[in-house]
Amino acid sequence: MDIITIHGLRKTFGKGESAVKALDGIDLAIEKGKFTAVIGVSGSGKTTLLNMIGGLDTPDEGEILVDGVNLAGLSEKELAVFRRKQVGFVYQNFNLIPTLTVRENILFPLSLAGEAFDRAFFDEISGLLGLKQRLHAYPHELSGGGRQRVAIARALLAKPSVVLADEPTGNLDSKSSQNVLGLLKLSVETYGQTLVMITHNLEIVQMADRVVRIGDGRIQAQGET
Ligand SMILES: Nc1ncnc2c1ncn2[C@@H]1O[C@H](COP(=O)(O)OP(=O)(O)OP(=O)(O)O)[C@@H](O)[C@H]1O
Ligand SMILES: [Mg+2]
Repeated sequence: MDIITIHGLRKTFGKGESAVKALDGIDLAIEKGKFTAVIGVSGSGKTTLLNMIGGLDTPDEGEILVDGVNLAGLSEKELAVFRRKQVGFVYQNFNLIPTLTVRENILFPLSLAGEAFDRAFFDEISGLLGLKQRLHAYPHELSGGGRQRVAIARALLAKPSVVLADEPTGNLDSKSSQNVLGLLKLSVETYGQTLVMITHNLEIVQMADRVVRIGDGRIQAQGET
């Protein structure tokens, strides 16, 4: 079953001579519970595509359905709820808040929305990601891999159906990359989540179930690994 379906997606940034066609007609289906790697050269449109799946940006043309919901049909308010509940984001530079502890960072999105969190699940994912002993530490006290594990715990806490990761190991050495990736993969498998990850790392591409190559805003190739 496909959890994400995309038809005829187009997006141009800027106008006139400085216009850039970031997405130029993308059709794509992503199967539920699978790990899809998105690859392609810099500027090919990968981040633009991921941001649209996550409801952070809107297309000029085309349709995105996530878990049966057409994103174009959602109001700003509904889109904010969609981003909070359905999608977990993980970024290259972790995006942690330096003045908050590990625990506070993980809880931040839900506490900002005034929502309760599942205490048992918090304990479970902080254990799974090896953060139990570091919950009162601050981000600068952790290694890069540790910071990314915090960001992953934060992304998973709302039990999203889709996890979107934009070069999550881009700032990590190869040993931490393998470690973080292994944990991310284990987490999404444990909770039956769908993982879509942009990466330039070939070892990671090999861990994916499917690979989609983007070039000039179009799908150039896709297939099993
Ligand atoms: N907000 C924006 N305003 C203007 N141009 C943009 C914007 N976002 C993306 N672009 C342009 O759209 C094209 C696709 O960008 P995108 O960030 O999706 O590429 P990418 O494949 O993620 O590249 P990278 O591997 O470097 O992260 C690029 O030419 C980029 O400069
Ligand atoms: Mg990018």
